[in-house]
Amino acid sequence: MSGTTERKVYLKTFGCQMNAYDSERMTEALEADGYTSTTSLDDADLVILNTCHIRERAAEKVYSDLGRIRDAKLERQAAGRDTVVTVAGCVAQAEGEEIVRRAPVVDLVLGPQSTHRLTQLVTEIRANRNPLFPSRPIVETVFPEEDKFELLPARGRTLEMGLGKSTAAFLTVQEGCDKFCTFCVVPYTRGAEISRPVEQITSEARQLVARGVRELTLLGQNVNGYHGLGSDGRTSTLAGLIRHIAAIDGVERIRYTTSHPRDLTDDLIEAHANEPKLMPYLHLPIQSGSDRILAAMNRKHTADQYLALVDRIRAARPDLALSTDIIVGFPGETDDDFEQTLDLMREVRFAAAYSFKYSPRPGTPAAKLPEQIDEDVKSDRLKRLQDVLSELTASFNESCVGKTFPVLFEKKGRQDGQLIGRSPYLQSVHANADPSVLGRIVPVEISAAYPNSLAGVIRAA
Ligand code: 5AD
Ligand code: SF4
Repeated sequence: MSGTTERKVYLKTFGCQMNAYDSERMTEALEADGYTSTTSLDDADLVILNTCHIRERAAEKVYSDLGRIRDAKLERQAAGRDTVVTVAGCVAQAEGEEIVRRAPVVDLVLGPQSTHRLTQLVTEIRANRNPLFPSRPIVETVFPEEDKFELLPARGRTLEMGLGKSTAAFLTVQEGCDKFCTFCVVPYTRGAEISRPVEQITSEARQLVARGVRELTLLGQNVNGYHGLGSDGRTSTLAGLIRHIAAIDGVERIRYTTSHPRDLTDDLIEAHANEPKLMPYLHLPIQSGSDRILAAMNRKHTADQYLALVDRIRAARPDLALSTDIIVGFPGETDDDFEQTLDLMREVRFAAAYSFKYSPRPGTPAAKLPEQIDEDVKSDRLKRLQDVLSELTASFNESCVGKTFPVLFEKKGRQDGQLIGRSPYLQSVHANADPSVLGRIVPVEISAAYPNSLAGVIRAA
């Protein structure tokens, strides 16, 4: 498509940061193809739902959105305007043809490995539009041979849409997962682990820095399983990759997510001790505190092994803050198993956590287990867990009062004169500051703690 008529895209992202990254890259490809963004369905020539399949509710939201989109498409049709509707992401991958059966409004189903084909397929659909012979929807959910990262346009422009203007950005370094936790769809929807070569990642990092980005979060479904090709022809670990990225001028902070305890290697623990740009924060999902449940989840480690790992990483970096993921109500989870999870939370003193009710996912081994837990029991356990978590987060935040942290200021706050930034521990920090501080890291003395944020006063550097 050339830029003769301006086309608008409505893009909605569900789920994880991986999807946020893919959405940003799709946006860049569409921009290069002449699209601008809209938040109104009525204006949208192209609608994209970048979907998540990890829990049932996330998938169901997609179908309810498609109902609204069908109404908008029909209204636009009545006014002689065409709308191409795309479902991308993991629901697309997992459900494929089923989506067009359930929601005939959909023109294109695009799996996460095929995002680089978006503009070409949308152009094809438009070219084949014929009111007398409605074209069949395109379902593109194979795991292609080619590398989607190579084929997406380079990052380099300041974007109107997406996450592009931020001082902190995501950078995908690895995709897919070979771990096969028995509850999880990711190995099926995102496929086997693939790592991008070091050179490709450092080049993207340099482009981001040129755009004003100061903090990079390296993304992967199993990011510490990273094993990309280095420029010396040897395989690099995540720690090796972090060293390369830290060497780039302008990169001031590095984070990574999400990790598996089994791949927390010695060199990565060492990087937390030796690499000052690597932030003292680690998201390390545990899922359950009960060895019985961990085994049934196929996590391949015990609660004690996790605790030993926590000790080692805290020995390397004593101020490290930890966060985690927890699932409550996994099939067969007893009150006693659940109590063990609460005990482990308190023992580790997590600074933050994401907690979920177990949601049976089609095609995963745990969905077939006989002892599924009542919804009421799951809700009750989730509430109890979240109460413990709120206490832990509050006490972590309170322990920060009186300390001075380097804060990267990212945006204006709601109140006049206020800016919002992030501490090394990923907390939101509010302070009164001149807007010239945006995009910079400055020392802030923490003066107050709130349930989900901190307030502070800027100190002279
Ligand atoms: N039900 C509930 N939570 C799940 N997660 C993954 N699959 C499921 C499921 N079927 C959670 C895990 C994982 C996080 C990204 O989502 O805690 O770490
Ligand atoms: Fe899913 Fe487990 Fe892989 Fe994480 S490690 S993506 S929970 S299979």
